[in-house]
Amino acid sequence: MNTFDIEKLVRPNVREMAPYSSARDEFKGEAQIYLDANENSLGSVSSELFNRYPDPTQNKLRTKVARLKGVEPEQIFFGNGSDEPIDLLLRAFCQPQKDRVLIFPPTYGMYKVQANINDTPVEEISLNEDFSLPLEKIQEVVNPQIKLMFICSPNNPSGNLISKLGIIDILKCFKGLVVVDEAYIDFAPVNVSMISEINTYPNLVVLQTFSKAWGLAGLRLGMAFAQKPIIDILNKIKYPYNINTLTQQHVLEALNGIDKKEQMVATLLQERTWLNEELKKLKAVKTIYPSDANFLLVRMEQANLFYKKLTQSGIIVRNRSNVALCDNCLRITVGTPNENQALIKQMQGISLKLLVKNEL
Ligand SMILES: Cc1ncc(COP(=O)(O)O)c(C=O)c1O
Repeated sequence: MNTFDIEKLVRPNVREMAPYSSARDEFKGEAQIYLDANENSLGSVSSELFNRYPDPTQNKLRTKVARLKGVEPEQIFFGNGSDEPIDLLLRAFCQPQKDRVLIFPPTYGMYKVQANINDTPVEEISLNEDFSLPLEKIQEVVNPQIKLMFICSPNNPSGNLISKLGIIDILKCFKGLVVVDEAYIDFAPVNVSMISEINTYPNLVVLQTFSKAWGLAGLRLGMAFAQKPIIDILNKIKYPYNINTLTQQHVLEALNGIDKKEQMVATLLQERTWLNEELKKLKAVKTIYPSDANFLLVRMEQANLFYKKLTQSGIIVRNRSNVALCDNCLRITVGTPNENQALIKQMQGISLKLLVKNEL
């Protein structure tokens, strides 16, 4: 049995501190006249009114997202992108220069960047060659100094889902927090999300975002799902008004359009299959890794050259050649049908030139 204790895990200064109490925290009802927050009572310079601070607890959004995700409202934290909960988890649970985090490269770069900002040493265990979790190595390395581990599923940049059973094995024995970043989960088969496990495992945090399948990256809304004690800590240390009014309004409206989200996901998945088939035909393409996300990781002959030529033609993909296990790999986001056709056409042209020069 895992003897997980959140009170012991949280940084002592965070446990002891009193959070900032905003005007809107102190008075929550509806009033005629608001003279409590030093806002501009006359209105806004812009044509739409934004003179009032946003709801610091994001209640309407919380109720709607809770229903959608099948969790309690108090099991959700909203952040300015999922980058915010990544940052706050580090600040809440890792004492700089003392505690550590564990990551599994190749993976999303922000875990390490945020840990560096927080002056928290990062331990790294490479994923296996097939980008699965190296479970035995994790058991060997884990120690009490490691307070957080970040597992990205589906993983960026490899695109594969990480086995749920493997994650559950870790949850059962690790006494720190297991943060499962599910930014791309809407592109994966149904019912694979770890959200269904948050009531069972007090040390599980699941991150999701409106930036990918919902197509709302510009609004910056990320979510962390976990049991209430963890969510309370994140809310305690967040900026009081971290989710602006526009974002709250737009996402509330977008939540009525789940059919459109599902339609877009279906189209992107079809396009992913098409791209996969077309890329396979190119002699320069060595491996296309199985993807549960809206991108493909493609191992090529001469990835740097393809990257350069594509960029010169105005098509930007992500060159991951310098990343662990991704030698000669490009990460290609699935685009619109026209964009995908343009990409393939350019890649065919580059391949042909290399073939003619006998360089493939
Ligand atoms: C795995 C992963 N997590 C999180 C993010 C960032 O999400 P957000 O836009 O919600 O900050 C990204 C963005 O590319 C990502 O790939």
